[in-house]
Amino acid sequence: MTRILTLGDSLKRFYAIIGHRAPSSGKLNLNDLPGSGRMDVLVRAINSALFLSHGIRNDSLITLHLQGGEGPDRRILFDGTTLAGVRPDERSIAGQIKAIMKLPIPPVGRFQEITQGIFHSGGDITDTIESWTKDNVEINILDADGTNITEKNIVEKIGIILSDDLPFNEYEKDILDTYDKISLGEKWLQGHSCIAITQYELDKL
Ligand SMILES: C[S@@+](CC[C@H](N)C(=O)[O-])C[C@H]1O[C@@H](n2cnc3c(N)ncnc32)[C@H](O)[C@@H]1O
Repeated sequence: MTRILTLGDSLKRFYAIIGHRAPSSGKLNLNDLPGSGRMDVLVRAINSALFLSHGIRNDSLITLHLQGGEGPDRRILFDGTTLAGVRPDERSIAGQIKAIMKLPIPPVGRFQEITQGIFHSGGDITDTIESWTKDNVEINILDADGTNITEKNIVEKIGIILSDDLPFNEYEKDILDTYDKISLGEKWLQGHSCIAITQYELDKL
């Protein structure tokens, strides 16, 4: 099923994580997620963004950017408003990604729904930024050197971009440089911890 993705009104938190080496296509070994371009890091980030102890955060959407391997980049969207059929464990989430990696990549911007609440398309972070901008999402970059999140004036629809275990590359830095940087403290943390802290801070509002 292919449809134009429309974002539900309840979506307020938009996360984009960039997987620099995680392959966009091909096979994924569920027994070696770290060896698959640090897919483990990405899967943990999805888990932290979307899952509560008993349920799914229906205000959050995560866009996973798979930029490794031979083929073109792929984006996978996990939409908390409709997501179903995924358990909050790494293997279950990775299993969904594995199935999608076998499929041809749809053209940039055409989101194909694979299972309920999970879509994929071509494109990279510039395409995600373009669609967030159209949807009036205020874009921020997670960066230890930014403004502390406690001092940030949080808007209704917040977009948060983070990297995997690698720093943003020069191409990304050029694009991301114009946006506000949000810090969660001076120490560099793992991505999924950053998302958990961000969700906690947003929950307090
Ligand atoms: C494991 S870190 C990447 C570390 C990598 N060596 C670097 O220099 O970017 C993954 C992502 O988490 C975010 N991050 C880590 N620590 C942070 C902090 N203290 N404040 C804000 N964002 C942070 C950044 O977006 C970073 O790209």
